[in-house]
Amino acid sequence: MVKIVAFSGSGRRDSVNKKVVAVAAKGAEEAGAQVTIVNLEDFNLPIFTEDLEAEKGMDPNAQKFKELLMDSDGFLISSPEYNSSYSALFKNAIDWASRKIEGETPLQAYRGKVAGIMAASPGSIGGMRVLVTLRMLMENLGTMVLPDQKAISDAFSKFDENGKISDEKIEKALKNIGKTLVETCHKLNS
Ligand SMILES: Cc1cc2nc3c(=O)[nH]c(=O)nc-3n(C[C@H](O)[C@H](O)[C@H](O)COP(=O)(O)O)c2cc1C
Repeated sequence: MVKIVAFSGSGRRDSVNKKVVAVAAKGAEEAGAQVTIVNLEDFNLPIFTEDLEAEKGMDPNAQKFKELLMDSDGFLISSPEYNSSYSALFKNAIDWASRKIEGETPLQAYRGKVAGIMAASPGSIGGMRVLVTLRMLMENLGTMVLPDQKAISDAFSKFDENGKISDEKIEKALKNIGKTLVETCHKLNS
């Protein structure tokens, strides 16, 4: 069974990107994948520095996050756009998971994996700019990023008060990213 890890680049309690992740995850589950949704905030990662790593070694929670990625076939990521790029929370987690301990291969969490990327913003371009930086980052780490992506503008209005998506076209596009991710992982695994 294809295994997917899904996460938002925002840890905010009412994050619209978390809601986006949940919809895409549903699409992946409907396509037969096992999806684990994680909240990056829950890992409570310290800011990565090489001094901290030299003194204390791999952060135990960062290792847990990395192992989740290593044990998966692909990722579903929805990112907020912070000053045209990804959040510090997201990049810090990605940096920690790029570090290897004995017995691991370089960039094991990322190489040979596939990612579906999305962005949501209350603004008018929906985080289109962060998708450019996110794609470049993940590809440089060895993760293949699906050509299909989705930026959701005016994103707060696309979900109702219970967090349910209210725009059918966007729901379909997000679920399709989840589905395409699973299909691509299947093809690469066979
Ligand atoms: C530091 C910071 C920078 C931001 N920069 C942008 C930006 O460049 N483009 C944009 O569309 N929204 C920007 N925003 C607004 C975010 O899109 C908005 O806070 C969004 O709700 C964050 O996603 P979330 O709901 O998943 O937490 C910024 C917000 C913060 C806190």
